[in-house]
Amino acid sequence: MKTIKVGMLGIGNVGSGTYLALEMNSASIEKSAGVHLEIAKILNRRPEAKRAVEVPPEKYTADPYEIINDPEIEIIIEVMGGIEPASTYMADALRAGKHVVTANKAALAVNGEMLQKLAMENHVMLRFEASVGGGIPIINAVADPLVSNQYDEVLGILNGTTNYILTHMTEEGADYADVLKKAQELGFAEPDPTADVEGIDAANKLSILLSLVFGARVLPKDIPTEGISRISGADIAAAKEQGCKIKLIARAAKTDKGLEYSVRPTLLPKEHPLAGVNNEFNAVFLKGNAVDELMFYGRGAGALPTASAVWGDLIEVGKEIAKGAAYDLVVAGGPAEA
Ligand SMILES: NC(=O)c1ccc[n+]([C@@H]2O[C@H](COP(=O)([O-])OP(=O)(O)OC[C@H]3O[C@@H](n4cnc5c(N)ncnc54)[C@H](OP(=O)(O)O)[C@@H]3O)[C@@H](O)[C@H]2O)c1
Repeated sequence: MKTIKVGMLGIGNVGSGTYLALEMNSASIEKSAGVHLEIAKILNRRPEAKRAVEVPPEKYTADPYEIINDPEIEIIIEVMGGIEPASTYMADALRAGKHVVTANKAALAVNGEMLQKLAMENHVMLRFEASVGGGIPIINAVADPLVSNQYDEVLGILNGTTNYILTHMTEEGADYADVLKKAQELGFAEPDPTADVEGIDAANKLSILLSLVFGARVLPKDIPTEGISRISGADIAAAKEQGCKIKLIARAAKTDKGLEYSVRPTLLPKEHPLAGVNNEFNAVFLKGNAVDELMFYGRGAGALPTASAVWGDLIEVGKEIAKGAAYDLVVAGGPAEA
């Protein structure tokens, strides 16, 4: 069986989960891919740090270009996060003829078009299932089995931290600050929660969905965005009185005035399918003109759920390499508009 060498940039939450998932599921991964996928080198800028997985130290390098320029490595997993230097490393990897699998919504939301273009020019694949909805397979579903549809609207609960906070405010009648503190203690919120609670993370993901679902290029900074930090217990109680729940909803819809999009706290009637999505779970609700209503539900974050999406992409790339046809399809809706 052919061995395909894979390099990985970063060994934090998702990187460790990706490494662990290979250890857990190597037989089924190999069977599905039809090739042996080996994580051969890992970028680790702090080799002395304790990591969540045991990795033979000879796999580590502190130099990203030892991975990017390694002629034996065919696929690069980018799980560093942040816009830079991750975007530069991905671009250089694509130029070097490597396939790239990434979970990085911040980099994709800003530089996705440039990276897609580079992937096409260099006849390599750029896959990013883990970047929206963690383990939920929304990207490939929209780009592949659902590709014949046109959509009027997409609604998403795309951030687990904010959904956890709103759920607990609703269920316990607790205040925002108290629930945030508890979420931080339990690891559901970052020490600096700004990107989550102010809706920035959800806007990054909506930007990627806008490109996929509507073929529209909208930078996160151009998406009207409001987070949950100003929601009070009184707002939650008033929503309840109206038979509603407050959820942080990322929405894009075709209207008479054109495409509208936003991330904002939204009143949802209790009967709405998204109103039942609680705690750290994520969901995406779509209405296609052929398929009608669909909802994708699952864990939007976490080491193993996210690794599941990373491996789905890796296996697809591995299969295409084995067939000798590893160049990617353009996202649904064709290339994004400038
Ligand atoms: N966490 C999730 O559940 C989740 C879900 C979906 C998508 N994602 C995305 O997955 C990516 C990774 O997230 P994560 O939670 O795994 O982050 P993380 O735990 O902070 O891990 C990031 C890793 O990259 C390394 N790194 C960061 N900047 C670097 C640089 N300039 N040079 C070398 N190494 C660098 C870090 O090194 P140090 O350890 O030395 O700091 C760490 O090993 C992000 O794009 C995130 O948005 C995460």
